[in-house]
Amino acid sequence: MAIERTLSIIKPDATRRNLTGKINAKFEEAGLRIVAQKRIHLSLAQAQKFYEVHAERPFFGELTEFMASEPVVVQVLEGEGAILKNRDVMGATNPANAADGTIRKEFALSVGENSVHGSDAPETAAVEIAYFFSGLELVG
Ligand code: PPS
Repeated sequence: MAIERTLSIIKPDATRRNLTGKINAKFEEAGLRIVAQKRIHLSLAQAQKFYEVHAERPFFGELTEFMASEPVVVQVLEGEGAILKNRDVMGATNPANAADGTIRKEFALSVGENSVHGSDAPETAAVEIAYFFSGLELVG
């Protein structure tokens, strides 16, 4: 399987509860390498741009206001099949449906405050990584 990179965000509900280290341990235990990482506080406009594909969905305002409410940790994860592997480690969007051992099962509070974001395909991963990081910041 090819080595891929995927964009991950540790969301405000998790940074607020000091869960960054525990979540990073889950990534590393699964064989994902953190090749870039920074803590930032998104403006509402930056969150709206990042999630623009969801602009017409009823939860868009709630989602973007939440993502701009407190700091997040944005990161690039690298590994074999990293995009799907990260989705597996994250678990289902709604923690009520997430499998045992996944990040969302263990830490998420609700479908909105669900602790992590991960890119869903190679094309979106490329766009999302470029939104937050320059090539020089990716240290494999
Ligand atoms: S997915 O993973 O893209 O298939 O999930 P999806 O259901 O399409 O949801 C996309 C993102 O929207 C968030 N979401 C919500 N936020 C607030 N309130 C409600 N009700 C809600 N439903 C979904 C969900 O956490 C996804 O965020 P990201 O950051 O992409 O994981």
